[in-house]
Amino acid sequence: MPFRPHIKDLKPYVAQAPVERLRAELGLERIYKLASNEGAFGPLEAARLAVFGADPDELRRYPDSAAPELRAAIAVRYGLTAENVVLGNGADELIRLAALTVLENGDNGVYPWPSFPTYVAACASTGAEARPVPLSADRSVDLDALRAAVYASTRIVYVANPNNPTGLLAPRADLRAFVEGLPPHVLCVLDEAYAEYAEGDDEPEGPQLVREGLPNVVVLRTFSKVYGLAGLRIGYALAAPAAAAAIDRVRGIFNVNSLAQVAALASLSASDSADQIARRVAHVKGARMQIFKWLALAGHKPIASRANFVFAEASGGSGAGVEQSLLKLGVAVRALDGFGAPEAFRVTCGNDEENQYFAAAIDRLANGFE
Ligand SMILES: Cc1ncc(COP(=O)(O)O)c(C=O)c1O
Repeated sequence: MPFRPHIKDLKPYVAQAPVERLRAELGLERIYKLASNEGAFGPLEAARLAVFGADPDELRRYPDSAAPELRAAIAVRYGLTAENVVLGNGADELIRLAALTVLENGDNGVYPWPSFPTYVAACASTGAEARPVPLSADRSVDLDALRAAVYASTRIVYVANPNNPTGLLAPRADLRAFVEGLPPHVLCVLDEAYAEYAEGDDEPEGPQLVREGLPNVVVLRTFSKVYGLAGLRIGYALAAPAAAAAIDRVRGIFNVNSLAQVAALASLSASDSADQIARRVAHVKGARMQIFKWLALAGHKPIASRANFVFAEASGGSGAGVEQSLLKLGVAVRALDGFGAPEAFRVTCGNDEENQYFAAAIDRLANGFE
């Protein structure tokens, strides 16, 4: 069977197994999973009530494909209109849908690398070429190199901000100049999956660019992280109406399930939503500083993160080595081979118990106990 050549070369994304499977496979009593950058806390109380209060009989119906109420609630948050909002089965799906709106055979998509592997798959699965652009020596996104990689055949650029797996932000003014300087045939996807954790200096301003009417910007956000809904799969794109309409045309009809819609709307509508999110963000800010410190004390080279995870170059030069050793101690972190950084690993900020357990485990490892 002649599959597309670009797909043949694609490495499948290997996600870390769920906790229960890991536990059974490793024969451990407990396992702490700090591997997949999920939020440290579950759904907001309002979202829990909305999901468990939903009528199970209604599950025989298809979800609301247009989801006007939820799209309006998202739009209001950003001073946009529902025409600016497209829902996706996680931001992950929207990364692929954006590629489908512009890429054809012979085109290419560019993205900084190391970064989120779905950009590679999104480009390659349309038959286009996936062109990684190396990060700078300090592992920040090299916007000049990214701009230099944009040719007439380039139709899409992805920038994760903060970047996964480094947790670094692009300076606001530089990113704005980059986006504004792109030729009009290039769609710029600003993947802001971790934006809530990056408040403060250089906080991502994707929604502002959409408000200003930039026609070629697509901003991605998700309910998987700070809202604690990763298992339900729901994210959204913000874009000028024409770009949003193009994404909507290639979207699967019922791509976002009913419970995800109900949970997302409840998450946004809860009267204490903003306070709860602020508390969660504050927790992550504390946790990422502690994790940075523990990693440095254990001899690894961490990067100060603006997301809910910390990247570190492994002291022995192998992220997979650290992953394997920590697994034996009951902690799952993420080796970064699949993200283009085999020398490094990434630790997700967990709750207090998970973080303390990680601290003890990384310390044991540094002291030669396995
Ligand atoms: C940079 C980035 N974009 C998108 C996603 C996908 O998020 P979602 O769960 O909304 O599909 C992730 C998930 O880890 C991510 O790190």
